[in-house]
Amino acid sequence: MYKPFKLPDDFLMGSATAATQIEGGDRNNTWYDWCEKGKILDGSSCLRANDHWNRVEEDVGLIRQLNHRAYRLGLEWSRIEPNNGQFDFSAISHYRNEIEMLIQNGVKPLVTLHHFSSPLWLRDEGEFENEKAVGYFERYTRYVVENLGDLVSEYITINEPNVYVANGYFFGDWPPGQKNLGLALKVFKNMTLCHIASYRAIHEVRKKMGFKGITMVGVANHLRIFDPYSRNPLDLLAAKVMEHMFQGAIVKSMTTGRLRFPIGFGAPMGKGRFFDFIGINYYSRSAVRFKGFKDDVMPNTQRNDLGWEIYPKGLYDLCKKAYKMFKAPIWITENGTCDQEDAFRSDYIYQHLLELSKLSEEGIPVQRYYHWTLMDNFEWVEGESARFGLIHVDYETQKRTIRKSGELYGQICLHNGVTQEMIDNYL
Ligand code: FCB
Repeated sequence: MYKPFKLPDDFLMGSATAATQIEGGDRNNTWYDWCEKGKILDGSSCLRANDHWNRVEEDVGLIRQLNHRAYRLGLEWSRIEPNNGQFDFSAISHYRNEIEMLIQNGVKPLVTLHHFSSPLWLRDEGEFENEKAVGYFERYTRYVVENLGDLVSEYITINEPNVYVANGYFFGDWPPGQKNLGLALKVFKNMTLCHIASYRAIHEVRKKMGFKGITMVGVANHLRIFDPYSRNPLDLLAAKVMEHMFQGAIVKSMTTGRLRFPIGFGAPMGKGRFFDFIGINYYSRSAVRFKGFKDDVMPNTQRNDLGWEIYPKGLYDLCKKAYKMFKAPIWITENGTCDQEDAFRSDYIYQHLLELSKLSEEGIPVQRYYHWTLMDNFEWVEGESARFGLIHVDYETQKRTIRKSGELYGQICLHNGVTQEMIDNYL
């Protein structure tokens, strides 16, 4: 059932990580605080994670070994700006050093400015509940781009604002642990304004400083498929409502500057086109029931270790829809699966990339694929127990071991496609 396929020569593949999930050692961010409060299901802490902060060289070596041509990394804001308005040059220099290493190894960096975690001083000011966050985020953006902009031309302003809001302000199991719809909407609005201010600042600084290369800025949007659980028209209605509330309204607000119901109205920062690519983090599908307004899983489907349905066709459908709507390059800024035994990750990668190859054949500009994730890491509230890595990590010894699926993916990156030999050896 497997067949070889090719991806376009200019299609770049690699993997994605986030600072808090791999670095370890920082006590100045909201997730460290959350761990200290005992909120992590397996009792682990991001203070340990992968000790990547001290193992950058080794990890860049692995990135190279896996033939990555692109790598998405996050910056820890709390390290770069440990106190309000006070920047730490040694932190930004550390990232500079890492990025230089990547470039020397032929890997194109994509930098994320905010990936779920915030400095504690910002939290003390209400984080994104406070409109002041917009000015703060812009100032931080400028500092980063002034210091890295000669090396980095590609940025993600904010990772998954919808997941951040849903977990932190609706379900309340992520920091700051709120269950307050009013606040959730306020945060959505302020994050939209943050994105726009940051988008503009990145372009402005890169231009003013005369840095070379086309500047590409976007958001890593967590997009899901929302299908009705049954043929009941009420389920269909609920699926439509949920889709809009979770992703439709925020994506439209951030890309155009015009706030959509229920986030707000009008265009407080002016209308525009605030994206150079559409970033898609794709994992799964929600099967929506009207009864209880529930986000369920389709029966009799393949699931990963966390119970998420594996649904490759969803990636095809989402990209197609996004391209139709935005007419911009599509970057898969995350896609991957939780598979402790490495039993189905290879198949997962094959199936999802196959969908992307179909899109390329249809002329849809899918240009990037960042697999989530390079190595097992601190998976937020799941802690160390949820394993998404191409590389297995023993947290006690910090030993990294490339999984079979990692080897396969390394080969795919090298050949920009799947060959018969790979099928024979890995699938
Ligand atoms: C995404 C997050 C990423 C990781 C994966 C599994 O929602 O952006 O940090 O947790 O899920």
